[in-house]
Amino acid sequence: MAEYDIAVIGGDGIGPEVSAEGVKVLEKLSSISDLSFNFEEFPLGAEHYLDTGNLVTDEVKADLEKYDAIYLGAVGDPRVKPGILEHGILLDLRFSFDQYINLRPIRLLNEKYTPLKGKGPSDIDMMIVRENTEGLYSGVGGFLKQGTKDEVATQEMINTYKGVERVIRYAYEYATKRDNELMLCDKSNVLAYAHDLWQRVFKEVGEDFSQVTQKHMLVDAITMKMVRNPEIFDVVVTCNMFGDIITDLGAEIQGGMGLAVSGNINPEGVSMFEPVHGSAPDIAGQGIANPLAALLAAAMMVEELGHPEEAKKIEKAIDLSLEEGQMTGDMGGKLNTAGVGDYICSVL
Ligand code: NAD
Ligand code: IPM
Ligand code: MN
Repeated sequence: MAEYDIAVIGGDGIGPEVSAEGVKVLEKLSSISDLSFNFEEFPLGAEHYLDTGNLVTDEVKADLEKYDAIYLGAVGDPRVKPGILEHGILLDLRFSFDQYINLRPIRLLNEKYTPLKGKGPSDIDMMIVRENTEGLYSGVGGFLKQGTKDEVATQEMINTYKGVERVIRYAYEYATKRDNELMLCDKSNVLAYAHDLWQRVFKEVGEDFSQVTQKHMLVDAITMKMVRNPEIFDVVVTCNMFGDIITDLGAEIQGGMGLAVSGNINPEGVSMFEPVHGSAPDIAGQGIANPLAALLAAAMMVEELGHPEEAKKIEKAIDLSLEEGQMTGDMGGKLNTAGVGDYICSVL
């Protein structure tokens, strides 16, 4: 019996609705496997912030540190200025726990759901390895003469050798478990310092992985090719900002945001699993949010905890729901959020 302590942060909007289905499905999984989970809810998010003024305190972080993994719904609320919750909770957790890898699979589970004509599951199956702790997200920058016509606003793109090296090394290792090819996605034709470092480190680390074919594509070309020729991609490593953008494009070609999943990984520490989508305030509280991305995040958490076979059980159940049309309205189904969770439990 493998027992895991999981910290659940439902967050805002549809976050708690979809993460509740994840907890339900993991409880069902524990009843049919040797896994067991102890869930502890952390009431972080807009409500908590508006009540207490706190985002994530040092005490809460010290507490979270003790868990085997964090399972997050989404953050973001129209009552709070954009950026406060996203920076103060989501990015703060990614940075504080040094979750330097953001694993974002782009995998078409069922041909019916891609908007790309003539493409099937064998064409759309890639892993984006996104750097998750620096780049344009580091928060370094500032204003000068703010609010005047002479205003200067800077946002620094921080690239450290250590940060670039560790994500590229992880991506090479990942590539050896797939098709032994790794593509670097950058903008080295313009970002002559930042992405020159990425280019050099990519080649240097590649010397330790002679079996891996090195590929390269500029980020603008990648957005074009992901639509036209998604079959050419396998493992792609990229910086924080580009990884954010190309994975929303990826989400759409694999069937929509309702199916896109994200693992914030610290290979030596506490990792955090979440859907790629946000808190969807436009549909929050109606019980209609698609929980499949949150369920895939739960599956990824189980896999990263070391149980790929058990993770596959959840993925297979999701495959079946897609095949049978047992889903929410955003994907053309008739079920509500809890109905999808119940269906998955029933076929698990
Ligand atoms: P969003 O992903 O929340 O929503 C975009 C659109 O997709 C909306 O029309 C929404 O209804 C729909 N949608 C998203 N998830 C869905 C689901 N599971 N089922 C059905 N429909 C779904 O993006 P947004 O509107 O740009 O952002 C809303 C808030 O979420 C903002 O505050 C933003 O900062 C935040 N956000 C948070 C995260 C996160 O916590 N990881 C990610 C992205 C955005
Ligand atoms: C994501 C989101 C976040 C990001 C935001 C909400 C900070 O868009 O997880 O993709 O940019 O990483
Ligand atoms: Mn994003």
